[in-house]
Amino acid sequence: MNYDLTNWPDVDLDKVRTAFREVPLAAYPELARYGRVGIHEALAGQGGLFLASDMAKRLALSPGMRVLDLGCGAGVTSIFLAREYGVTVDAVDATIPEDLANRAAAAGVGGKVRSIRADARLLPFDPGAFDAIFSLNAFFYFGTDDLYPPYIMSYLKPGGEIVIGCPCYREEITPDMPEELLLEFPACLAVHSPGWWRRHFEKSRSATVLHAALHPRGVEFWEDRVRFLVEEQPPREMPVWKRDMIHAMIRMLNRDAGGMVSHFILHVRKDRIP
Ligand SMILES: C[S@@+](CC[C@H](N)C(=O)[O-])C[C@H]1O[C@@H](n2cnc3c(N)ncnc32)[C@H](O)[C@@H]1O
Repeated sequence: MNYDLTNWPDVDLDKVRTAFREVPLAAYPELARYGRVGIHEALAGQGGLFLASDMAKRLALSPGMRVLDLGCGAGVTSIFLAREYGVTVDAVDATIPEDLANRAAAAGVGGKVRSIRADARLLPFDPGAFDAIFSLNAFFYFGTDDLYPPYIMSYLKPGGEIVIGCPCYREEITPDMPEELLLEFPACLAVHSPGWWRRHFEKSRSATVLHAALHPRGVEFWEDRVRFLVEEQPPREMPVWKRDMIHAMIRMLNRDAGGMVSHFILHVRKDRIP
């Protein structure tokens, strides 16, 4: 069902709830202690800890492993990984908040999360430094260059794994794509299909793609995020950029009848013998 934006930014929450699905907490019992706010708060994209948890489950993480959280934003996922899996996390972002160390300490993982301000294309690590790389809702901003997969995998140990969760198009966009689906243009030009991401990594000839597919809740994550944001704060009280962003998301969902806008998970293992 479409949501009528005629009275935007005044929203009718009952109609929002009818138009947009919410991911049921019961589907993620491992996140029970976070609640709906903890699953979304301070995360910059759709899916929140729902998507992060599905990504992490693929990595077979164990205490003591060293993990790179690439494009970590506020570092919510860095704290999540350290707390839930006992791993040590290097939290990397071009703009990293100064309070991450304090928040990690408050969550009981102060010694396990190290924040590093760096460009994802110029990383300050030794080759083979990481057991795993994790990247939520960030990789398309810096990872689409043909040379990036071999570059980023050089930081993995042989047999190490990378997992990426991001917005995607079900298929590659075409010149006649409806304007409403081109969210955050031109950034959306770097948003690709799961098949594109599979080939992007397979081309490196040094990796095995273990999984590259739409997330079964990929469309729902968009809807769930809209619901969370408008239930958290009335749009009229939001900063204009945020109100405009949600407006654009609703227009996109209204226009997209066929599930063209979704989310995907890519899971890749670096080959042991290059
Ligand atoms: C949509 S946010 C996602 C942040 C976080 N992973 C989360 O889920 O909340 C994308 C992040 O990618 C970061 N980013 C974009 N380009 C980058 C680059 N070249 N190097 C490092 N970080 C980058 C941004 O600073 C931003 O924090």
